[in-house]
Amino acid sequence: MNDALIQAHDLSRSYRNGREQISVLSRLSLELRRGEAVAVIGPSGSGKSTLLNLLNGLIAPDSGALRVFGRPRDQISENDWAELRRTRIATLFQDGNLIPTLTVARNIAFRAGLAGLQQHNGAELLEQLGIADIARRYPDQISGGQRQRAALACAFVMQPELILADEPTGSLDYASAQKVAPLFFDAIRERALGALIVTHNPELAQRCDRILELREGALRPWDSAVSS
Ligand SMILES: Nc1ncnc2c1ncn2[C@@H]1O[C@H](COP(=O)(O)OP(=O)(O)OP(=O)(O)O)[C@@H](O)[C@H]1O
Ligand SMILES: [Mg+2]
Repeated sequence: MNDALIQAHDLSRSYRNGREQISVLSRLSLELRRGEAVAVIGPSGSGKSTLLNLLNGLIAPDSGALRVFGRPRDQISENDWAELRRTRIATLFQDGNLIPTLTVARNIAFRAGLAGLQQHNGAELLEQLGIADIARRYPDQISGGQRQRAALACAFVMQPELILADEPTGSLDYASAQKVAPLFFDAIRERALGALIVTHNPELAQRCDRILELREGALRPWDSAVSS
């Protein structure tokens, strides 16, 4: 079995803004294996969300090589990407990913269903995250931090092999943020989940196997002595 979930080599990606072409990622390389958690830090606008969207197939690189689950990107069709996002790759988007017309509980059940699961541990996840009491509410009837935790439950309920998390504790107070790390590290231990976690939460970052800094378009090992 191929242990590598992500193998990215020399990925570049720019955006066109009017006449201007703005380079965001430039020859970025990354490898992520099963059972591994990697934290990504970097200033606002450095390209962290762009990177996650390259890795889940929502956007394409301008150049470079990318393999996901050992498969080269050019052999993954749009349908295959959609299937991967339903069943094997969970993305926790920065702005939440709940369906507004479904209650929290139904959002979770829906995600489990999309992943093809007959049974799911959604109730347990809500309990673990401290939001069991809002299960019957709609996303616009709960707070930002509650929405973030509901989105976490949706991501984990599908039992993904790879999770791409964009600031999963960004809207949470200290006590709620404390509940998030076990979700990642239990799944890593129990199911060899691989996780790429964009986070500025030092406790979460420090529990990861590596901390990488996105700077000038590429990832480098984070050196706290240089950066602080
Ligand atoms: N669709 C787009 N069109 C044009 N420019 C974009 C687009 N998406 C992002 N950008 C630009 O690309 C750069 C990287 O954006 P990105 O969202 O990846 O940054 P980020 O590191 O996630 O930032 P933050 O920490 O604020 O979430 C920014 O300068 C942003 O303005
Ligand atoms: Mg972002």
